[in-house]
Amino acid sequence: MVPRSRGFVPFGMGLFLYVKLERRLIVEEKLKELKERAISKINEADSMAILEKARVHYLGKKGELTKILRGMGALSAEERPLIGKIANIVRENIENTLEEAKKAIKDRELEKKLQSEAIDVTMPGKKIRTGRRHPLTQAMDDLKKIFISMGFEVAEGPEVETVYYNFDALNAPQNHPSRDMSDTFYINENVILRTQTSPVQVRVMEKTKPPIRIVSLGRCFRNDTPDATHSPMFHQIEGLVVDKGITMGDLKGTLEVFAKHFFGPDTQMKFRPHNFPFTEPSAEVDATCFKCGGTGCSVCKGVGWIEVLGAGMVHPNVLKNCGIDPEIYSGFAFGMGIDRLTMQKYGIDDIRILFENDMRFINQF
Ligand code: DAH
Repeated sequence: MVPRSRGFVPFGMGLFLYVKLERRLIVEEKLKELKERAISKINEADSMAILEKARVHYLGKKGELTKILRGMGALSAEERPLIGKIANIVRENIENTLEEAKKAIKDRELEKKLQSEAIDVTMPGKKIRTGRRHPLTQAMDDLKKIFISMGFEVAEGPEVETVYYNFDALNAPQNHPSRDMSDTFYINENVILRTQTSPVQVRVMEKTKPPIRIVSLGRCFRNDTPDATHSPMFHQIEGLVVDKGITMGDLKGTLEVFAKHFFGPDTQMKFRPHNFPFTEPSAEVDATCFKCGGTGCSVCKGVGWIEVLGAGMVHPNVLKNCGIDPEIYSGFAFGMGIDRLTMQKYGIDDIRILFENDMRFINQF
């Protein structure tokens, strides 16, 4: 029988237990130290970026906590769950601290933002500058109102127009001087900037069956060198009425109502024979000067009349070009330059100032 040494066995077991206890304590100690370091680092952080860095450093896949847990392999099967539990608590503690720190930083950032965006209600306000309707816009609004009150509708057409609509369909002969490059802006052989609002007549008649009663207002373009009375861009209003039995009397009546509303109730009108390719007969129409009433002044250059518009009975060829039978229907048309009328009305002596957008000018109206 081998005598059992009483002293050796307990000592051996004790060492064994001691070493095991030691290992566990070391891991526990490491975890505790890690927790404290992590928490103090997190509490010092003053930005989201630093927090994120700390999270990766302590809790990330390659972080410190993982490294410690990897070392658990040396522990026994009973020890591992114990250490696992502690590790989970450490992880939880660090995560909670991270969450709180995140919230604190967010709150601080919001506070900062609110402070920087705070409105000082004692500061003097900024002056809001109200604009004004341009005198041309006012004139166009007045014109629309007058014609709408007579049952007209407002039609629109393109400013970049084809030669067909601007000249051909309007019965302009091939050699008409206005077709010349020196008078018209050509984009190519067939496309131009419209020189008049008259092409809108054609576009409307092509699409609409009579009765037709429209006005169309807008920009026109001619190859003119700017001076006090010429601008390469200017404005016109076009009128067109087509129905059964329309006569020159209707034209005169309509224009008279317009003139009395626009220039004043005592205005008289005068028709002078003229020639336009798209009307037959054609007339130029003058009105008694709205400034002097016909006695002569600087606005009418002493003659008592101002030239207001061109007009006439729609040429049968134009009706035909638009698919309207001139044996059944007739119509009248008129066209008027808006810029010149506006200048006369307000005593503006240079057309160019209308397009300079100088507030000192516009604010006078
Ligand atoms: N389009 C002509 C021009 O620019 C004005 C004009 C005259 C228009 C007679 C008309 C009209 O509709 O019938 O000079």
